[in-house]
Amino acid sequence: MSKRIRIDKLIAHMGLGTRSEIKRAVKLGMVVVDDKVVKDSGLIVDPDTAKVYFDGAPVVYRDVVYFMLNKPQGVISATEDSRERTVIDLLELSDRQRDPFPVGRLDKDTVGLLLLTNDGQLAHELLSPRKHVAKTYEALVHGDVGEEDQQLFLAGVALDDGYVTMPAELHIKSREQRDDEIFSSISLTIMEGKFHQVKRMFEAVGKKVVYLKRVSMGPLKLDETLEEGSYRELTEEELELLRSHKRKTD
Ligand code: URA
Repeated sequence: MSKRIRIDKLIAHMGLGTRSEIKRAVKLGMVVVDDKVVKDSGLIVDPDTAKVYFDGAPVVYRDVVYFMLNKPQGVISATEDSRERTVIDLLELSDRQRDPFPVGRLDKDTVGLLLLTNDGQLAHELLSPRKHVAKTYEALVHGDVGEEDQQLFLAGVALDDGYVTMPAELHIKSREQRDDEIFSSISLTIMEGKFHQVKRMFEAVGKKVVYLKRVSMGPLKLDETLEEGSYRELTEEELELLRSHKRKTD
């Protein structure tokens, strides 16, 4: 079956500019399809067969997809597993067929923002330890999280394997007492992604994470209207945010 896509959308989707930049480029005669200068940025093309040039260079179409998932508890961040349900099992068949994979891992019991894509390059950039992409988590912690923990996290704490974490920003939102126990609601922003990092950071200060949710990754924020287990494609604005973040950190 042939695909149909607007030319401005196709070029923007390949990361060559925002939709309005592409529209402007069309007006300037910079877009050529099948040897003809495009006059209408709404021109519909088949991306698999159209010969597209942007500013003199061929545009190679790749069927890239970007999904934002609000990961629920009980599924693992993998593409397949013989025993456990994976985040890919939550996708519709037609979306699964485009071979997306999770960008990084959330633990089985962690919920929240998980990006799924088949764009290996973007995933690599977001996961590269050199890029220090900020990730913010909200958590309920068993214990009285206080100023001392904020200072310790800012300075870096030693995890169980001796690794000392990079400075991390801890906000204490509230504390509540249940029976004789104190629980703290916090948010924590870390710039790295070691295995079970948030849980191990709290273990390092003698406390235990009992609920963990990721709410942002780089410039991408969890859409709180997405129910746990639901997902949607990134908007053009979100995709552009990710791409401009990548350009800034190149
Ligand atoms: N840190 C953790 O401990 N678990 C996660 O799932 C993510 C960050």
